[in-house]
Amino acid sequence: MKIKSSVFYKSSSKPQEFPVLNIPRFAFIGRSNVGKSSLINMLVQRKNLARTSSKPGKTQLINHFLINDKWFLIDLPGYGYSNLSKAGKSKIRSVINNFFSHDSKPTITFVLIDIRHEPQKIDLEFFKFLNILKIQLFIIFTKSDKIKSKSYEKKKEIYLDTIKKTLNVEPISLISSSITKQGREEILNLIQSKIN
Ligand code: GTP
Ligand code: MG
Repeated sequence: MKIKSSVFYKSSSKPQEFPVLNIPRFAFIGRSNVGKSSLINMLVQRKNLARTSSKPGKTQLINHFLINDKWFLIDLPGYGYSNLSKAGKSKIRSVINNFFSHDSKPTITFVLIDIRHEPQKIDLEFFKFLNILKIQLFIIFTKSDKIKSKSYEKKKEIYLDTIKKTLNVEPISLISSSITKQGREEILNLIQSKIN
């Protein structure tokens, strides 16, 4: 799929503020710093459409980006950033909860996982949360450029095996890198298959 246009559309924190345009929506969620905003930039081939930072906790609101005038990419704040104040953490939690508990669910929810990490409690809890809401899980393993290409398929397999054993879920999954652009075509093809 060709990305012909990508524009910032709206920031929001509550369902009442979400865009009313009823078009396909593709959401990116995951721990703080996992690379959600960078992945959005990689998909649309723009450096700074979504703001990124080496410091966790950069994205604080729900940001809708309108792509090809036809669908939204949605950048969400990350969960699990331990250095935030209690009030800050609870704000982020409620922004995320409100987003996923809203009546109209995203067309696809991509949960990003850093490919270098073993399954973490906070991610497993988030998978459970999606499961309860009957939201299908799609995983994107990010930052593949940080490890040797030989080991990423293995890492992915071990991760998927753990979540099958602990949660009995078998998600569709992909490997990506915002640096090498690995996964770009696959993610866009998946999105394309859900549009029209
Ligand atoms: P929050 O908004 O804080 O939740 O973070 P985020 O998930 O949006 O992460 P962001 O895209 O801001 O990236 C965090 C850091 O990881 C930045 O320093 C990025 O440059 C880096 N990063 C993101 N994706 C990749 C990747 O694929 N490879 C490498 N090597 N670094 C990456
Ligand atoms: Mg971000």
